Amino acid sequence: MSWHRKHLLDIESLTAEEIVTVLDTARAFKAVGKRAIKKVPALRGKTVVNLFIEPSTRTRISFELAEQRLSADIINFTADASSLKKGETLKDTALNLEALNADFIVIRHSASGAPHFLSRVLNASVINAGDGAHEHPTQALLDAFTIRERKGKIQGLNVTILGDVLYSRVARSNIWALTKLGASVTLCGPSTLVPRVFEQMGCRVTYNIEEAIADADIINLLRIQHERQRKTMFPSLNEYASLFGLTKQRLERTRPDALIMHPGPINRGVEIDSEIADCDRSVILEQVTNGLAIRMAVLFLVNGGKGPQELVQ
Ligand code: CP
Repeated sequence: MSWHRKHLLDIESLTAEEIVTVLDTARAFKAVGKRAIKKVPALRGKTVVNLFIEPSTRTRISFELAEQRLSADIINFTADASSLKKGETLKDTALNLEALNADFIVIRHSASGAPHFLSRVLNASVINAGDGAHEHPTQALLDAFTIRERKGKIQGLNVTILGDVLYSRVARSNIWALTKLGASVTLCGPSTLVPRVFEQMGCRVTYNIEEAIADADIINLLRIQHERQRKTMFPSLNEYASLFGLTKQRLERTRPDALIMHPGPINRGVEIDSEIADCDRSVILEQVTNGLAIRMAVLFLVNGGKGPQELVQ
């Protein structure tokens, strides 16, 4: 079990073994988080810049807490108060951050490929915190971690991803991670948001929600990503909720042990009934908790850590 990568740019390029290394390292960090002293010195003397050029609650705060727990020095870049507003390019902004000895850049950007671009022009390690509709690797890792922790395995599970798949970086990263780990992935939603081309990624595509949820071990819901849609992809939110929302009636027709997941932010009453978001089969807040351990694991590994065997259990 080992890790040799300097960057975490996507899930597509990872092997199943590398994904499992992150999950196992995160399990060790989750145990560290239950100790009285939750901090470890793994990133002492290292500087991490959180370069969030798109809004975020969960990912940004989770990375920042992970960096604090690893004893790093942290710079939180605020795009709206920066010289990006004066026309400075992303490359020049990042080069200036590196000139201040940034060792790690955690980047969220609306442009697909922005983290890959920075990894080519910087010496610092780059971690993708979500790039356009392309990938959100740490979200997929925390989702896989949550599934494995709750179900004891990923291999052989039926995972349904329901909603706006087309514009979702979470969906793409989850599809890569789950198929590499041996799950069967079904995609469902309006045909405008779930094109059949996703079958080429090894998924089943269906537009029949009853069929999509009936045998699912996991139902992962996605919100409508209005910020990335250039035109209306369905007649109305009410119609979307009635045709593809997870309602109490639909939940009754799922397996009694099927888990409900959502990367957040949730839109109550649209893709998910409010009561379902809060019910005991929902692991939405557990996903957030697990995100901290995953981000600690990722930072530890890209800093040269080899795996969980290096952490005192
Ligand atoms: N899941 C997720 O990426 O949430 P944020 O946009 O709040 O970071």
